[in-house]
Amino acid sequence: MHICATKQDLRRVLAELRTTGTIGLVPTMGYLHDGHMSLVRAAQAENDHVVASIFVNPTQFGSAEDLEKYPRDMDRDLAMLRDAGVAAVFTPTPDIMYHPDAQTIVETTDLANKLMGALRPGHFRGVATVVTKLFNLFQPDRAYFGEKDYQQVAVIRTMVRDLDIPVDIRPIPTVREADGLAMSSRNARLSPDARAAAPILWQSFDMARDLVATGATSDEIKSAIWTMIDREPLARVETVDIQDAITLDPITGPIDRDIVILLAVTFDPVLLIDQCVIPAQKDLT
Ligand code: PAJ
Repeated sequence: MHICATKQDLRRVLAELRTTGTIGLVPTMGYLHDGHMSLVRAAQAENDHVVASIFVNPTQFGSAEDLEKYPRDMDRDLAMLRDAGVAAVFTPTPDIMYHPDAQTIVETTDLANKLMGALRPGHFRGVATVVTKLFNLFQPDRAYFGEKDYQQVAVIRTMVRDLDIPVDIRPIPTVREADGLAMSSRNARLSPDARAAAPILWQSFDMARDLVATGATSDEIKSAIWTMIDREPLARVETVDIQDAITLDPITGPIDRDIVILLAVTFDPVLLIDQCVIPAQKDLT
């Protein structure tokens, strides 16, 4: 496995790989778990070469503290990618990634600033900018992203469409722990009590599915989820959003199309997000 610390190195390795087939990219911030590895496996199924990046991107973090506390384990990450058969990994530092006078940003103006974007101002601008840079550096045929970060996938798809970036975006279903908690690098920062309580996010989706089946409105489902999670003393609900699964526009009233429920819940100080798509009830459409 090639480990490329500089852009020059990366470009050289990719030029070589490209002569023998297609390239699938898995961008990550490291501290890898089976969710990341499911993206690698999906990429392997569809491409001749799989490449990855490990870069904790400062511009998508709201606070210096959150950035500093983000878990890291480069040696373990590299061993996991090597064992999985990844061809090359890009591991830049922020100085290598960003020019000291960098002044260009990429922003999906509407999508970046609603939902999770309203909760974390600047976050999706940071994501869109770094992912654009990664697409320009790697020029992959396909790139793999987890549906767990549902709005992130929507932002990246919109950006690729609007800027004519020649890459196929492949969304991959969320990988969960046995108790339903979505795998996340942030889970490592949960206290044992918070970790035990965190599957409440997943449990609230079960309740929501039942409510959709009984014809509940979006407001009723939202407030039932809010109440259920608020009953857990360690959890603080930040947002519960019920949106059109395709456009991410808000839904009011009865559920007459496919919806996505987007949850953001803090188990102090760790912000967890999760999502669940629920298909429209047939008799309502
Ligand atoms: P990171 O949080 O490391 O996630 C890397 C990729 O793994 C993302 O596409 C994310 O959605 C996916 N992923 C995380 N947990 C998952 C799970 N449980 N199941 C399936 N996929 C999962 O997302 C980022 O990094 C960054 O924003 C990045 C896109 C790399 C830009 O900096």
